[in-house]
Amino acid sequence: MGPFWRPAPLALHLPAHGRGRALAPALRQLLRQPPGSWDLPELPGFGGPLEAEGTVAEAQGRAAALLGAERCWFGVNGASGLLQAALLALCPPGSRVLMPRNLHRSLLHGCVLGGIEPLLYDLPSDPLTGLWQPPEPRRLEQVLAAAAALPGAPVAALVLVDPTYQGLAADLPALVALAHRAGLPVLVDQAHGTGEALGAGADLVVLSVQKSGTGLAQSAALLAQGDRVAAEAIERALLWLQTSSPSALLLASTAAAVEHGASAAGRRQRRRAVTRAGQLRQRLEALGLPLVANGDPLRLVLATAPLGINGLEADTWLLQRGVIAELPEPGALTFCLGLNPPRGLERRLPRLLEGLRRALGGPPLPPFTPPPLPLLAAPELALGVAWRSPAEAVPLERAAGRVAAAPICPYPPGIPLLVPGERIDAVRADWLQGQRRLWPGQIADTVSVVAGS
Ligand SMILES: Cc1ncc(COP(=O)(O)O)c(C=O)c1O
Repeated sequence: MGPFWRPAPLALHLPAHGRGRALAPALRQLLRQPPGSWDLPELPGFGGPLEAEGTVAEAQGRAAALLGAERCWFGVNGASGLLQAALLALCPPGSRVLMPRNLHRSLLHGCVLGGIEPLLYDLPSDPLTGLWQPPEPRRLEQVLAAAAALPGAPVAALVLVDPTYQGLAADLPALVALAHRAGLPVLVDQAHGTGEALGAGADLVVLSVQKSGTGLAQSAALLAQGDRVAAEAIERALLWLQTSSPSALLLASTAAAVEHGASAAGRRQRRRAVTRAGQLRQRLEALGLPLVANGDPLRLVLATAPLGINGLEADTWLLQRGVIAELPEPGALTFCLGLNPPRGLERRLPRLLEGLRRALGGPPLPPFTPPPLPLLAAPELALGVAWRSPAEAVPLERAAGRVAAAPICPYPPGIPLLVPGERIDAVRADWLQGQRRLWPGQIADTVSVVAGS
């Protein structure tokens, strides 16, 4: 099970329950029952996510009310599974969907499953850290206008990812209003959020309850409101994609996490964590350590590039000293503090980050080159066709002019830098080579391209 650290590791990764410290009391109680006694099938009276009655239906109803939705379905295959169901509910085969370039790969997989064409819209990126930034309303307006001017199949929906993995948030009410004005329903991937997109008017919202709540891994919820998307279409898509034996433990974990999050005890727990996070942030800033300004106090993002350090190297250095971060990227390292941050965090992390700066720091890394992408682009060859085509591996240096047969997708964060079906032009091939240097060990020397392309 990996190395043992003395003292205990500083585990600053997801799930946000922090190795059990922040689990909801109801789930803790359940787990104290004889092992396995909670592993129930869809018994009468208990039911499942698609049953109109039973314990699960009641818990989903309570979760919807607590989160401000009209309907809620729990999922046991993470936000991934529910994002795919949401896409299939929104988009008929052959239709198009507007998706941001910082999409999680599960959305791309949803397009393959549903025969949906992704129209990928570009986002700003920060030259200091290389991080994708949320879209400004002005940019979305341009995207919507460009999509409306495209000949061919109609656009069925807009997808937004908000907040980002690093806790960066957009002006959601403005973005949702623009999409609605253009006649499009909106799905918000709030894997890292807590449902605030509903207040902004989103039609469908997907939560990963282990990322910003206290659920176990794979606990997730799909929330719906309004009449732009029919509940029957959502339930049909859930039926297609979800297991016929949903884990009662994971369903209970979602229910318990949502209810705990809304309870007085849950709110107190979050407030305590946020206060500690604020104090930690102040200490780090006082030491001159550059932190990314974001909207989620429990996501601490160290801007490593200004320190002259690649975030992946920083991660390796810290791991050797017992700090487990969540998300290393070339220009930043994200720590998830969780809802009950580990003891000793405020004492140990500043000391270790100072040590990191002393050991690996230097002049700031050069500014990150934004990806050379058009405002809006669809893969030249259909995604599902390209991905299943006979393929060959070619060195990135010789990839210009070829059509990608597989994504290039460092994980985490699981955001594709290249999508199957995209033709790689010379500028993109150059940029990808630069990315390979920035993501050591994460991007192969070769890229899979459609044979004969
Ligand atoms: C933005 C985003 N959406 C969706 C997911 C998928 O969530 P899950 O791992 O719960 O399936 C992730 C996972 O990292 C993510 O970062």
